[in-house]
Amino acid sequence: MSGLFITIEGTDGAGKTTQIGLLEKYLTDKGFKVVCTREPGGTPISEKIREIIIDRNNAEMTDITEALLYAAARAQHTSEVILPTLNDGGVVISDRYLDSSIVYQGFARGMGEKLIKSINKYAVGELEPDITFLLRLKPEDGILRKEKQSELDRIEMEKAGFHQRVYDGYIRLSKRYKDRIKVIDALGSVEEIHSRIAAYIDELIANSSI
Ligand code: TMP
Repeated sequence: MSGLFITIEGTDGAGKTTQIGLLEKYLTDKGFKVVCTREPGGTPISEKIREIIIDRNNAEMTDITEALLYAAARAQHTSEVILPTLNDGGVVISDRYLDSSIVYQGFARGMGEKLIKSINKYAVGELEPDITFLLRLKPEDGILRKEKQSELDRIEMEKAGFHQRVYDGYIRLSKRYKDRIKVIDALGSVEEIHSRIAAYIDELIANSSI
């Protein structure tokens, strides 16, 4: 595989979309073929699964159903979009990937990291992001931003304790995978955050074969 796999993670409302747009332009201007995508979603099938997952009317969805649906959406996304792009030497920027399931379903829902990883083995195989940016924003600030933008979805509607566990889970993962996960304070200006991300990307490209 000769491409570059970049993922952006964070609590809801951390500003991932804005940063993905800026990073896409940055890398396209450097001459890379860039594919921006998201989870759950990124393919027609995965987008349909997304609708089921986040539908506010699906209040009776069990934790295991939720975890399997995220993994199913990811399996399709990985084989239809991510792997072909990477094999073609392109750059994939994904808004969320497996770390989201470990944190939201594994830690925040309390299903455990081991179970989530074993379910997702079928979806991701050996694939791991080359670099992950964690936009760190306190959960209460993130949900406030989201509330102003649109109606909250099924996951965003969860109680404050859930979002706090998501936040704590991300910090825990970032400490464990220091080399891969770069933590960026999401309260900085859009430009500041972008230049920090761009600096990490320049370093990664300089040390890779892409
Ligand atoms: P988004 O709003 O960032 O597009 O993501 C949709 C919601 O799904 C968000 O609240 C995070 C959540 N999520 C999980 O719980 N597990 C996952 O594996 C993924 C990818 C997202």
